[in-house]
Amino acid sequence: MTHSPPVALITGGSRGLGATLATFLGAEGFHLVLTARDPGPLTATATRLRARGVRVEALPGDVAREEDRRRWMEAVGSLGRLDLLVNNASALGPSPRVPLRDLPVESFREILEVNLVGPLRLIQLAHPFLAASHGRIWNISSDAAREGYAGWGGYGGSKAALDLLSKTLAEELRDDGISVVSVDPGDMRTALHQAAYPGESIDDRPLPEVTLPFWAWLLGQPGDRVSGERYRAQGDRWEVRP
Ligand SMILES: NC(=O)c1ccc[n+]([C@@H]2O[C@H](COP(=O)([O-])OP(=O)(O)OC[C@H]3O[C@@H](n4cnc5c(N)ncnc54)[C@H](OP(=O)(O)O)[C@@H]3O)[C@@H](O)[C@H]2O)c1
Repeated sequence: MTHSPPVALITGGSRGLGATLATFLGAEGFHLVLTARDPGPLTATATRLRARGVRVEALPGDVAREEDRRRWMEAVGSLGRLDLLVNNASALGPSPRVPLRDLPVESFREILEVNLVGPLRLIQLAHPFLAASHGRIWNISSDAAREGYAGWGGYGGSKAALDLLSKTLAEELRDDGISVVSVDPGDMRTALHQAAYPGESIDDRPLPEVTLPFWAWLLGQPGDRVSGERYRAQGDRWEVRP
């Protein structure tokens, strides 16, 4: 009997942490569905991974658009399975950052659509596949979800809500054999981080590869032992429930 390789869908897989995760999961034998809005960097990342023998479907689109989310799920359907959904793509909001009293409500809506509504909708659409594979959901959070950093309220509020969705989903999906974790990757030298600090050097921040030991650890844990947890990828230690 032959087994088809596991499949991972990573939103925002063209650069930054998403591209690092794609490289890691590709090397672990996953077939990848990668998404991002700008097709240029997405194609470049897919080409680089294919040269290493990884099977990649590169699908441009916006996490906030239902039409795109459904198209991505059709691609998953044609691959026949989904084992891991990584909700990684994120909107920061205006740059330079503004305090909540000045945050245009349209910007707040856009942040919520990308960071909260999109991830939940993808989870809903992916549910039959994840239930069939007893799969995993990794929702990418931020330390801004836990602290009231001035100027980070829209983004931080969306990530705090994503953390609670993750915890709730972990309970609701446990009987389906689906595990859900929330991960704060820590500061990383990426386009999103630079947008948060326009005009400032972020050279002292580590590249997203700094999180690789954590992803290797997480992938190695049984899903049911980690489900419902919130991890800090650059934290000192990671624990599973006894
Ligand atoms: N960097 C940090 O210091 C830091 C700290 C804490 C948490 N995080 C979290 O880590 C995750 C990855 O961030 P990053 O720093 O790697 O950011 P990044 O380098 O800017 O990459 C973001 C990725 O998401 C895609 N994307 C953005 N908006 C999208 C949308 N509406 N629809 C589809 N794709 C979209 C981008 O491509 P397109 O622009 O082409 O769409 C890109 O592929 C995010 O969830 C972020 O909140 C980052």
